[in-house]
Amino acid sequence: MARKILVTAALPYANGSIHIGHLVEYIQTDIWVRFQKMRGHDCIYCCADDTHGTPIMIRARQEGIPPEELIARVHGEHTRDFAGFAVAFDNYYTTHSPENRQLSETIYSRLKEKGHIVTRDVEQAYCQQDQMFLPDRFIRGTCPKCGAPDQYGDSCEICHATYTPLDLKDAVCSVCKKPPMRRKSKHYFFQLGNFTQELQEWMQGGRIHEQVQNKLQEWFSQGLRDWDISRDAPYFGFLIPGETDKYFYVWLDAPIGYMASTMDYCRRKGLKFEDYWCSRDTEIHHFIGKDITYFHALFWPAMLMGAGFNTPTRLTIHGFLTVNGEKMSKSRGTFISAATYLKYLDPEYLRYYYACKLGPGTEDIDLNTGDFVLRVNSDLVGKLANLASRSVPMLTKGLGGRLGEVSLEGRVLLKVLQDHAETIAEDYETRNYATAVRRICGLADEVNRYFDQRKPWSAIKEDPEHARETLTVSLNAVRLLTIYLKPVLPGYAAKIEKILRIEPLRWTDAGKLLENWEIGVFDRLVERVDSKKVDEMIEESKEQQAAARPAQPSPLEAEPLAEQISFEEFMKVDLRVAQVMKVETIEGADKLLRLELDLGGQTKTVMAGIRQAYKPEDLLGKKMIVAANLAPRKMKFGVSEGMILAAGPGGKEVFALTIDEGAKPGQRVH
Ligand code: MSP
Ligand code: ZN
Repeated sequence: MARKILVTAALPYANGSIHIGHLVEYIQTDIWVRFQKMRGHDCIYCCADDTHGTPIMIRARQEGIPPEELIARVHGEHTRDFAGFAVAFDNYYTTHSPENRQLSETIYSRLKEKGHIVTRDVEQAYCQQDQMFLPDRFIRGTCPKCGAPDQYGDSCEICHATYTPLDLKDAVCSVCKKPPMRRKSKHYFFQLGNFTQELQEWMQGGRIHEQVQNKLQEWFSQGLRDWDISRDAPYFGFLIPGETDKYFYVWLDAPIGYMASTMDYCRRKGLKFEDYWCSRDTEIHHFIGKDITYFHALFWPAMLMGAGFNTPTRLTIHGFLTVNGEKMSKSRGTFISAATYLKYLDPEYLRYYYACKLGPGTEDIDLNTGDFVLRVNSDLVGKLANLASRSVPMLTKGLGGRLGEVSLEGRVLLKVLQDHAETIAEDYETRNYATAVRRICGLADEVNRYFDQRKPWSAIKEDPEHARETLTVSLNAVRLLTIYLKPVLPGYAAKIEKILRIEPLRWTDAGKLLENWEIGVFDRLVERVDSKKVDEMIEESKEQQAAARPAQPSPLEAEPLAEQISFEEFMKVDLRVAQVMKVETIEGADKLLRLELDLGGQTKTVMAGIRQAYKPEDLLGKKMIVAANLAPRKMKFGVSEGMILAAGPGGKEVFALTIDEGAKPGQRVH
């Protein structure tokens, strides 16, 4: 019977690029989803960017753009990166969406109505300079246990002690480097403890791998503590209903983003959201990394229970990626972004390699670059693709591209392959991808042996039908193995389907054979990995790191903000539309242009420091904005009677505001 399955992977933060560590998860999930779809189940893969929180707000501030602009840009980058690795989401949404706001408010109010929300004053570190409460990660200071300097506010990287930021010695705000003060404010808490028993029951029945069960029992025995779900302004997120300066903590609305993405998908497809989140007939599978287990095994199901929604059917928790046995490292060049990888290597190599390494458990997985090259070249290229690249050209060149009938001997061999359909399906279902790949390679070995024994390359001259018999069997084997590999290698499978001129392969197609059939022409399948490319990729990842390290401190860090001005003061600036009537360069002033501006009858002459950035002819006739009531200033090259709006670090990097044709010179704007 067809199952209805909703699958999610964790929502990546919108302040960073996708890297090969993330890809462990998105590829693992994609393989599972593709497998379910091939089995004929109604399975969808929903994900989104996780867009809220302090780091995103600060990052946007440092780039000098609104957070909305940052998250829109990153959404584009993430979508492109995932597509590059054939990670095929049915929906890729954002947590900064109306659906997510509405669902967050609904869940919160239901929890509140049932008495699961309380408020309490909390004393926290507050930065007066930046006028914000500081999250633990934005405080640095000396570890209270071992005295190591420059540690985060929540834990020490040297002695691994954990503490609260208020315990930290010589604490400073990591944005402005000034010591924070203590300040109290009201916080909202979700009483997780109310769900202790319900959660314990929920966890029975194989929803989570046993490796994690122990950790969970540890948490239960310590007692489940209230969870702080609010953050004070300034914050980028959703306001808490009834508040004007308190927001939902990003981790409250992030998992709700799974629902919002489903809702957006249902709207696009004319489906019912309730069929996914309010119906017992649907399975919900979350794939996550081990670092975010607490959120998904405790907070999230409790929120869903309290608000009356479906709870997850299963959590699949994977370990972390290491490269050559060590944590991904920027200085070693092993912190490889998805985009950099794609410049050098075929994405299917990585999909294949991760599949070779992935099991159902939470062990870390290691990408060993030597092993990577070896496995791809010897197994993927040497065993699997090679069978097709030897058989197809031989059949098309010498035998009219026609498959004959499968011989008796061939039937016996192919039956062995066909009999593996359910075993390999079970491997995928239970996320034992490594086992699946091992079995598939074993089968390919048998077929390669058969092929080599029958030597079709020499038979084709004396006894073409003997060769056709061999190639009919080997290409049927290629077809069967492609079915089994297709969740991992969708691109490879599509090429084989095209070469064989067959419909997209589904799992049940393993029951059939291809006989008396004309195939198409050969197309290159997968190239061998060139280990030089791997080296170059690592080299570039090092360079990127050097480039990413700011040469100068960010302007915000270097220079404290100027004295505050009031809104009234700001509004005193009279901004007008002005049309550029004349532009002149000035002898001896290589930074200045003299502009003659028409303000609707009135003319003003303005000296603007934009000569390196704009050519006079580019500005002529343009409409710009001028601060019209600025007192005239006598400069070396004449009097300037106003100032056009233009800003930037200087030189070519100065940007003047030019506006729409429709604006009238002299019109007041603000
Ligand atoms: N935004 C949160 C998740 C919210 S889900 C409601 C988050 N984002 S993340 O970008 O930091 O990580 C996204 C996923 O990638 C997580 O499941 C995380 O475990 C996984 N990985 C991030 N780095 C990883 C490795 N180096 N190795 C394997 N997985 C890793 O957490
Ligand atoms: Zn500060």
